[in-house]
Amino acid sequence: MVHLSTDGIYAPTLEGGLDNGVAAGLAEEIGAAHRELMSKRACGEVGFYDAAGDERLGGHVAAEASRLRLLADDLLVLGIGGSSLGGQALVNALAPGVAMLGSGKVHFVDNVDPGPLARLMEVLRPERCAVLVISKSGGTVETLAQYLIVRKWFFQALGEGEARSRMCFVTDPKRGLLRELSQSEGIRCFDVPPGIGGRFSVLTAVGLLPAAFAGVDVDGVLKGACDMAALVTADDIATNPACRFAAAAVLAQRQMGCQNIVFMPYSDALRTTSAWFVQLWAESLGKRLSRTGEVINAGQTPIPAVGATDQHAQVQLFVEGPRDKLVVLVEVQHAQSQLEIPPELEGRDEVRFLHGRDLSDLLAAERRATRAALLSAGVPVLDLKMSKVSGESLGGLLMLLQAACACAGMLMGINPFDQPGVEAGKRMALGLLGREGFASDADAVIRRESIASASS
Ligand code: PA5
Repeated sequence: MVHLSTDGIYAPTLEGGLDNGVAAGLAEEIGAAHRELMSKRACGEVGFYDAAGDERLGGHVAAEASRLRLLADDLLVLGIGGSSLGGQALVNALAPGVAMLGSGKVHFVDNVDPGPLARLMEVLRPERCAVLVISKSGGTVETLAQYLIVRKWFFQALGEGEARSRMCFVTDPKRGLLRELSQSEGIRCFDVPPGIGGRFSVLTAVGLLPAAFAGVDVDGVLKGACDMAALVTADDIATNPACRFAAAAVLAQRQMGCQNIVFMPYSDALRTTSAWFVQLWAESLGKRLSRTGEVINAGQTPIPAVGATDQHAQVQLFVEGPRDKLVVLVEVQHAQSQLEIPPELEGRDEVRFLHGRDLSDLLAAERRATRAALLSAGVPVLDLKMSKVSGESLGGLLMLLQAACACAGMLMGINPFDQPGVEAGKRMALGLLGREGFASDADAVIRRESIASASS
């Protein structure tokens, strides 16, 4: 289970921190935000709270992963944004050594830079590969371009029938090119349930299928997520961890000017969870318009970090730089491995105090020290604590962060579930590539570029 403490935004824990009573002033607003989310949940508009509760999901995903594992040693996962980062977070946290242990290796291709995909197709043997294509819309240009390349490579090497049997799609249950192809070509296909957008889909087949291929026990992830779902949907907002997290983030922004939120786990296994959190918080909360249509340019910029590495990179900025950051520290009480520091160089004072200690003792001391330094400098901190990085705890953490983000969006007055700001750019790129119906979007790019070149 994951525990949240918000003490680090209040005095006296935080030097110059908020008065403890300040959160009470927000209670009505939080209650309204929570009720609105729960009514969206009840009518099926917001689906992520209940995704992990689908009793057949774990079994279906595990069965498909086993089928693919019989056919393949390597899985190519094509997808971008929320259709990739959740799987990456699960695999990197829960199956970090997949290649070393001889289990299936999962390769996430989440960009259209030709380099990585070209290298993969050079080194992988198609006869020992499977391909998973993930796109909620089924029409994302980056994913479709990757798919066309991989499809040709796969078809040529294996023949169409064999290649199709090693492919699987995850997409909208009804709409889009991938759904159509799965039907017309007999390619196996999993649903992204209705009411769940990309960045809220980690606990569906989107995240779970790559994880299961890598050997992760997806039932554990789902159990942790379900346990947390019960807490984050509960109506007592004083104990609901998603409401408490969201309220703290919004209070820190409103009262202390924290326009940035740092996500800093003291665990290498959670590095990619930081990247996942960044997308979740940025794309969900960065909105020009409020839900009632006023221009408010809302958002809180997420900054990925990892302890202790970033103590030698970003922490100087966090402690002494602009007072515009809230830092979320994630403590993992029991590391995935033990590694005792041996009594080498016995005569040296610089290292003698380390002898016989576990490497994780150093990590723990560094986290406590950084926390104290931040709080003493007046930098607000939210503490998340988990006993270890396991399927259950990670499932719980991901559910908590999704729910906190949704609640923060409601408190900020925006819609956390859309992304209108990326639409214009998408249309312009399609126009530049000559897609029919997008000529005026291409013209907008050319006009903008000519303004820039005229002034340079
Ligand atoms: O979170 C989101 O909604 C986005 O980041 C999408 O995941 C991303 O744009 C990919 O979309 P799709 O899954 O439709 O291919």
